[in-house]
Amino acid sequence: MNQFSLHREPLITELEIKVRLGQMVLELARDLRGRQLTVIGILRGSFMFTADLVRLLYINDIHPLIDFIFVTSYSGTKSSGEMRLLRDMSLDVNGRWVLIVDDILDTGRTLEYARNYIQDRGAAQIHTCVLLDKPSRRLADIQADYVGFKIEDVFVVGYGLDYNGRYRDLPYLGVLKEG
Ligand code: IMP
Ligand code: MG
Repeated sequence: MNQFSLHREPLITELEIKVRLGQMVLELARDLRGRQLTVIGILRGSFMFTADLVRLLYINDIHPLIDFIFVTSYSGTKSSGEMRLLRDMSLDVNGRWVLIVDDILDTGRTLEYARNYIQDRGAAQIHTCVLLDKPSRRLADIQADYVGFKIEDVFVVGYGLDYNGRYRDLPYLGVLKEG
């Protein structure tokens, strides 16, 4: 099995994340203020991003309901391609405006699955927001409405994103390199 270690230089620093989130929330606020909004984060990768995002929504006078679904397809650095819903949301999204939040849009299967699932639950409007986008890896026909950073095809960890459960705690985004 290949060994991976964390590259010394951050790909995206804590400060860069903060600045970009501030900009994204202005866009979100413009489109979503005044709506009966429910934020649904996709666990586990989006927990930090979702938490920072809703604090900024608060400052912009948006006070959503917040819930999470736990969707997974991953093991190691490879997607198995098969989606599983490991934990359902508790809130009823029927008739609500929903903002789906995920850490990264890679093949797109996770976000596509989550969007279809929430659509089937009767959401009135769905917007999607991801911190990172790797467009070169896309398999599903989906784009996010709000994207923090477009990145190359590298495996990133930190700020919620993991490699086999590790590195979620980093406050910045780093790259895993082989060896
Ligand atoms: P997708 O279904 O292929 O779009 O993958 C999305 C999910 O895979 C994300 O929510 C992440 O949890 C995980 N993922 C994809 N790329 C990376 C990465 O570079 N680092 C860590 N997790 C990743
Ligand atoms: Mg994820």
